[in-house]
Amino acid sequence: MAQERPSIGAAGPRVEAWDKVTGRAPYAVDHPVPGAAYAWVVQSTVARGIVVDVDTSRALAEDGVLAVLWHGNAPHLEPVGEPELLVLQSPRVSYRGQVVAVVVATSPEAARAGAGLVRVREDGTIADTVLRMDHPALYQPVQVNAGYPARSAIGDLDAGLAAAAVRVDATYRTPAEHHCAMEPHATTAFWERGCLVVFDATQASTAVHESLAGLFELPPQSVRVVNEHVGGGFGGKGGPRANVVLAAMAARLVGRPVKLALTRQQLFALAGYRTPTIQRVRLGATPNGRLLAVGHDAVSQTSQLTEFVEQTAVLTRHMYAAPHRLTTHRVVALDVPTPGWMRAPGECPGSFALESAIDELAVAGNWDPVRLRIDNEPPVHPEEQIPFSSRHLVQCLELGAQRFDWAHRDPRPAVRRDGEWLIGTGVAASTYPALTWPSTALARATADQRFDVEVNAADIGTGARTVLRQIAADALDVPLHEVEITVGDSAIGPAPVAGGSTGTASWGWAVTKACRMLREQIDREHGGRVPAGGVAVRADTTLEIRDRPVFARHAYGAQFCQVRVSSVTGEVRVDRLLGVFAAGRIVNPTTARSQLLGGMTMGLSGALLEQSVLDSRTGDFVTGDLAAYHVAVNADVPRVEVEWLDEHDPHLNPMGVKGIGELGIVGTAAAVANAVYHATGIRVRDLPIGLERLI
Ligand code: MOS
Repeated sequence: MAQERPSIGAAGPRVEAWDKVTGRAPYAVDHPVPGAAYAWVVQSTVARGIVVDVDTSRALAEDGVLAVLWHGNAPHLEPVGEPELLVLQSPRVSYRGQVVAVVVATSPEAARAGAGLVRVREDGTIADTVLRMDHPALYQPVQVNAGYPARSAIGDLDAGLAAAAVRVDATYRTPAEHHCAMEPHATTAFWERGCLVVFDATQASTAVHESLAGLFELPPQSVRVVNEHVGGGFGGKGGPRANVVLAAMAARLVGRPVKLALTRQQLFALAGYRTPTIQRVRLGATPNGRLLAVGHDAVSQTSQLTEFVEQTAVLTRHMYAAPHRLTTHRVVALDVPTPGWMRAPGECPGSFALESAIDELAVAGNWDPVRLRIDNEPPVHPEEQIPFSSRHLVQCLELGAQRFDWAHRDPRPAVRRDGEWLIGTGVAASTYPALTWPSTALARATADQRFDVEVNAADIGTGARTVLRQIAADALDVPLHEVEITVGDSAIGPAPVAGGSTGTASWGWAVTKACRMLREQIDREHGGRVPAGGVAVRADTTLEIRDRPVFARHAYGAQFCQVRVSSVTGEVRVDRLLGVFAAGRIVNPTTARSQLLGGMTMGLSGALLEQSVLDSRTGDFVTGDLAAYHVAVNADVPRVEVEWLDEHDPHLNPMGVKGIGELGIVGTAAAVANAVYHATGIRVRDLPIGLERLI
């Protein structure tokens, strides 16, 4: 078994660390391509309407401008897949910032200048851009994202609430947020003998490959998508975006390679964002702190183009035991950019509401919030009645409480002071599904005892290729240095997105299978010696994953936070954040720690700073750059600690891993808000927790 081999579990730096810090790891538009032209997008200025006319004459007269694409001359796209990708196919404008033209020129400067000279005449009408709990167009879809039913009901929520001795009924709001990855959405595209090749900033080259083949009506073997290095994604690069389609179109039209990098400002309309949510949580408990009723109703928004429904309340289905339960999701299509996945979509905003409400219940019942959670630990999945493959939330809470000296906490709010600062501590639970998707992988051995392992994973800064190499070495039963790992190329074969915290489990399973098959073949057919011509095998995990026994598979954790709040200004500073997680086997403690630390830091950022403000009159995100969209910087993040339990779960995958990319951001905002309540006695139910909420 993998547990006995040496590579899995060993700490170590990323394989590509040296290339990264010396600038030798090219991003999508860094690839040197001879004769490249450059594209610049022109965006709509109305949120709803039509493009009446595009006057390209002045732009075309500009030095270096090669072409201007708009719906009047753009190449035809086959209408398959995401409507968002059918760029420049019609005059209809569905949101402000939608691409209405693209200028292609011999330099980025000329393209940008040309874009400023394109005259777009738009006919706009009044737009509907504001999410409200009472919006008349809200509806309940059949399913929410990731295929969950929109509604779940067990027992009778109203009866459970009526029978409860202690109740909470509160409404929480989370804002729109943008990913702000370091590398913008960007593509280098070229056509070669009828084949389309793109270097694309994506978490999902298999999905981009499929989309491009469909849109341009090409056989799969005529499309290649390369994403060897990706500068962050956070879900924003979880599927193809307009940039890759536009670059491919433009390259076809001008007959030379085209590079297209969206600007930071353009990303705010074109790269997805976390939908705002409004959530009502209702809880009811017995006099001794046993939950009788748990209700969670969530609303979110989508665009006029695509039905995107955030799975906000889904985590509430498995977090705590209670006989009476109800979760619902409703959505409204507004004249806004299409929301998308952003790190722990669903669990991140959903946990803010649920874990704040649990804290409110603890206050209302005068119970310790750690104890309350432990007392409501479900023995099996409380809605599906199936066993958990493993679940160590209680142990995470207990270890964290010990580390945080929770036993000596005075539960009364607003009693601890240090000069002008009010000090408080808070706790919240974390969770994220441990999903696994089918993947293919290749393994090859050469006669000189080298092993090449290939899988179309995307390393978006997580250390994916590093841990996959460790997994491969153990499955081959060879030392790490004999293994070469290649990722980020659709030519390798289909593999799932770097998303949903599924990468290590999904790609790693295929890598393990390919490597074990290769080892067996070398041993059985070649007496343990690799023949002169080498040996190669390809593995596919579709069947194993389909045939797995039924379990509820989730990772859990507990986050503890200490804040100080200025009694003069209302400013909130996080002093200390501790996360204790149980996420199966940890393949590489160095990269794992970074993932969890990064998630918690992003959660802290969301708690205190991040919000995308939409101007309701124009449908424009006015916080459209990093000067206005605030993310936590080093000074905001003084002390973040990460620990994990040694969790063994035989029901996951051959490596025994759960995902960790998203777990760390879940619950952080509630831990901060609960600490703010403890510090001040003020319950903040709207994120972010700006000082205006506390003075
Ligand atoms: Mo993540 S939002 O699943 O890339």
